[in-house]
Amino acid sequence: MHNVRNIGLLGCGVVGGGVVSALSQNRDHLLQHCGVSFDIVKIAVRDLERSRVDSVQREWLCDNWRDVCEHPEIDIVIEAMGGVDPAFEAVKTALERGKHVITANKELLATYGRELYAIAQANGVTVLCEASALGGVPVLHALDHYFAANRIQKVTAIANGTSNYILTRMREDRVTFAEALAEAQQAGYAEADPSFDVLGQDARFKLQILCRSAFATEVATDDIECVGIPDVDTQDMEVAESLGCRIRLVATAEDDGEVLHASVRPVLVPAHHPLYAVDGVNNALCVDADIVGQVVYAGPGAGSFATASAIVEDLVRLATTANQPRCVHTRVKPVHPVRYPAYLVVHRRYTSHRVGPYTVPFENTALASVDYVGPTSLGVECWVIQGERAHVEQWTAHLAGLCHGEVRWYPFVEAPKAYPAGLPVQHLDASLRFVAAE
Ligand code: NAP
Ligand code: HSE
Repeated sequence: MHNVRNIGLLGCGVVGGGVVSALSQNRDHLLQHCGVSFDIVKIAVRDLERSRVDSVQREWLCDNWRDVCEHPEIDIVIEAMGGVDPAFEAVKTALERGKHVITANKELLATYGRELYAIAQANGVTVLCEASALGGVPVLHALDHYFAANRIQKVTAIANGTSNYILTRMREDRVTFAEALAEAQQAGYAEADPSFDVLGQDARFKLQILCRSAFATEVATDDIECVGIPDVDTQDMEVAESLGCRIRLVATAEDDGEVLHASVRPVLVPAHHPLYAVDGVNNALCVDADIVGQVVYAGPGAGSFATASAIVEDLVRLATTANQPRCVHTRVKPVHPVRYPAYLVVHRRYTSHRVGPYTVPFENTALASVDYVGPTSLGVECWVIQGERAHVEQWTAHLAGLCHGEVRWYPFVEAPKAYPAGLPVQHLDASLRFVAAE
């Protein structure tokens, strides 16, 4: 006698449709290898007339989420509607009716995760959400179950497939931002409102979810510094490439014991770093922990089947293991922006005016090292600085007053170990003494 689980779905778009197709395609495999039959009973959608993936049976469809969440025969509800309203009410209702919930909804979990876990615990059921962070890459399961022997110090992630896809297409094929975004939407990677992707909010929601698992810490959305990618252009990408780096939207959180440092920003990733080669819709997570060192996970971060895979993994987990309701974390810490190991300040010159290495009065600051790069063939001059972020920001503002062009700064995810041969670099020490030239 095999195990039969009755499934209800909220939403049958990119993600919900992928789940129906994956369950249909691998039905025999799931039965033979996991001993479970997942039978879809009802699917709530907005528009009953809209066309659906082939394996959807019309009699499953309804246009009221209550028909799923209050259905007496359904024991697991998969939420793939998106947004908070009515998703919060629907998930709450399902949990209160004693149904397990699987959700792909980052915004819902980041905003109301704590409340939903408490409701699940009170009702003896479970909320699983592997698909909500990094799509098909099983990072939440890993963080929740693997690192018990460790104290996690830092998580560094490419957490938004759409932004990574756009930056990759701009860099590799010189397509415009708008064209690359349209491709990401067409492929089903982007959120219903793609500003969530490109302005960094989606990655920020995912960072909140990662912080819950990595540090058992609740972080409020607005406490996380968040800068998106709309200002990144191909000139910045060329400057990064000339330094042997790529620009990626990276979500970082670091626990120093007292304070959680958390930011989402476009950062420079040097060639030796694991995130350097993570292209297209792929996502990745680097976990730095005190006993094991660095562990890296990577794979498809968005799209119909990548996300469906994570949801079906959660289904199998619910059906085959004794699930403990997740404990409700209460730890809250002050949250500050990340202190990056190095910064790139770029003077985009509009004339031949050059600021040069020595004309900036930063001898009173605590900068550990400064490399002046310039002028380069790209018409910019740059400073690679290791030191306090506040000093870098001060210096950038000071530079902006001195020069005739635009000044921008990017953090490095890790300090560059070497520069490409032929780059005009001058190393300066903290008192601006010339150290060596290449
Ligand atoms: P989508 O393609 O827009 O699908 C949303 C589905 O929800 C549609 O079927 C829609 O019905 C239905 N729906 C929306 N509001 C509803 C309501 N009030 N009542 C009933 N049904 C409703 O979105 P998606 O890309 O699948 O994303 C769904 C969720 O998964 C979001 O939280 C998203 O952030 C998350 N997610 C997406 C991806 C991805 O790669 N796309 C990856 C991971 C997580 P109609 O079809 O009738 O309009
Ligand atoms: N819009 C999201 C992304 C979907 O591009 O990463 C996956 O969460």
